Amino acid sequence: MTVSTPLLKTWLITGASSGIGLNATKQLLQDGHKVIALVRSPQKLQAFTDQYPTTLNILKLDLTQTEKIAPSVERAFQHAGRIDVLLNAAGYALVGAAEELNENAISTQITTNLLAPIYLTKAALPYFREQKTGHILHISSEGGQITYPSASIYHASKWGAEGFFEALAKEVQNLGIKVTLIEPGRIKTEFDNNAVITEPQLDDYRKTTVGTYFRLLAMGRFPMIGDPAKVAQMIIKVSTVTNPPLRLILGSDSYKNIIRETENRLQAAKEQQKTAKSTDIKFIDEN
Ligand SMILES: NC(=O)c1ccc[n+]([C@@H]2O[C@H](COP(=O)([O-])OP(=O)(O)OC[C@H]3O[C@@H](n4cnc5c(N)ncnc54)[C@H](OP(=O)(O)O)[C@@H]3O)[C@@H](O)[C@H]2O)c1
Repeated sequence: MTVSTPLLKTWLITGASSGIGLNATKQLLQDGHKVIALVRSPQKLQAFTDQYPTTLNILKLDLTQTEKIAPSVERAFQHAGRIDVLLNAAGYALVGAAEELNENAISTQITTNLLAPIYLTKAALPYFREQKTGHILHISSEGGQITYPSASIYHASKWGAEGFFEALAKEVQNLGIKVTLIEPGRIKTEFDNNAVITEPQLDDYRKTTVGTYFRLLAMGRFPMIGDPAKVAQMIIKVSTVTNPPLRLILGSDSYKNIIRETENRLQAAKEQQKTAKSTDIKFIDEN
């Protein structure tokens, strides 16, 4: 029997304690939906537990403790019986020139932003497959399509997630499971305050684009123009669409940057048509 989509849904959300995840959690609870929050700081949601004792459930999980991810997802499904939407909203940025970053910082960034959402998703998939329905929403970034100097590992985590979720979408499209990558620009959350800035810094990089990026950031040249409540509203809206887009661009900055970089990439790719063909076994020189 095909399960029909209920009007009131149950969401499993990481990063529900701050920023985009918190805004989504608030709006969902206000609208009567159920939320299971996977958070490392449950105390941050205390006020909501009192207000929504039956519709909010909190499970403590630090995403860097990857061995606890699958059991936590299992507990969530067992508790709820059914979960309709997984929202991967937890994440942060590691900032610094690639050469300045130590292996521990790199590994923690990749674990939190890439491995953890992959493990969460893998753990949820058998349940979604059984239900024949489920929507995975992953908060990527404009930084999953474009790059800034000084954020190489952050971009590695976001571009990695873009590849994973795009391929996954193809794998599960006939199983009733939907996948959407959310690509916000700069949103006014705790994101900048929670960024991990590498120390010590190498003087040479102060003279490169890395130094320029830090100076522009300090001058306020990358303002957080996005409203987290509106972003959350749009994320919730996309979860109600029958055929949601694979990618949801949010913010005029994100739109402008992604269009510019995609056009540049397309142009650069087109310029290589002849070289690309030249390595075919049966190469026919059309000129
Ligand atoms: N804000 C932006 O400008 C922007 C732009 C593009 C993409 N994004 C992406 O949006 C997502 C959400 O960021 P935000 O803007 O909402 O930032 P935020 O306000 O800093 O929220 C980040 C959330 O991630 C959680 N988190 C971080 N590390 C964790 C860990 N090891 N285990 C469990 N939870 C962890 C935090 O938990 P605690 O409360 O316990 O710290 C917090 O709930 C991130 O993936 C970010 O890359 C943000």
